[in-house]
Amino acid sequence: MFNLFKKNKNDTPVPEHLPFNTDIHSHILPGIDDGSPNLETSLQLIEGLYNQGIKKTIATPHIIGDLYRNTPQTINTALQQVQQACSQKGLLIEIAAAAEYMIDDYFIELLKKDEPLLTLHKNLLLTEIPFTSTPENLEEIVALIKAKGYKPILAHPERYHYFQQHFDKYFYLKDIGFTLQVNLLSLTGYYGSKAEKAADFIFENNLASLVGTDLHHHKHLEKISAPQNKIIFEALLGNRLLNDLDAAALDIS
Ligand SMILES: [Fe+2]
Repeated sequence: MFNLFKKNKNDTPVPEHLPFNTDIHSHILPGIDDGSPNLETSLQLIEGLYNQGIKKTIATPHIIGDLYRNTPQTINTALQQVQQACSQKGLLIEIAAAAEYMIDDYFIELLKKDEPLLTLHKNLLLTEIPFTSTPENLEEIVALIKAKGYKPILAHPERYHYFQQHFDKYFYLKDIGFTLQVNLLSLTGYYGSKAEKAADFIFENNLASLVGTDLHHHKHLEKISAPQNKIIFEALLGNRLLNDLDAAALDIS
């Protein structure tokens, strides 16, 4: 279905906006991870999301033990800076912040110390794992996250190399308690054909509850806004209830 649709895309009208208005995954806060390097870029990226119909964006800077030890303080300081600049510019978009937690030793340490973690909404916690290797004790870690009162969301499951070879693992990830969040650009082949096929599988099997732009820089914005890609997003996501955080919190997919 997906490939047939692509062949017919030239006859299809281009939607004005993205098929959802809350973005729950992005790296648009300035200077605190591998996303936006400065305030000017942050404002351009946020304006770009706004122009694609996004009314609320939740920035999710990386927290990775050996790379970006962001804290609620570093994140909220950057958030306030951006919120102030957007309001001065008259940009009518709601900006909030959480984080994207790498499941590593540092994360386990934070969990065990009962450090309050930054959530997208209620107890929804955005997590990621390394691209090339899966933590051996993932099931145990998910159980710990849940025992601490959080509901884990796994960012971009379609991008992890191991799962791209074992699609049945997407059912397993759901079974152990993850809510799955696919990256919008995976649907276009931006991250390669393996990620695209995996994303298609996840959607065909109704395993994803959330999508995200995972916006880091201008190239991502350009691809998200490209007419041919917006046709793809609309075709795949147009009739789905996606990015309803209350539904995700209640585990409705
Ligand atoms: Fe991300």
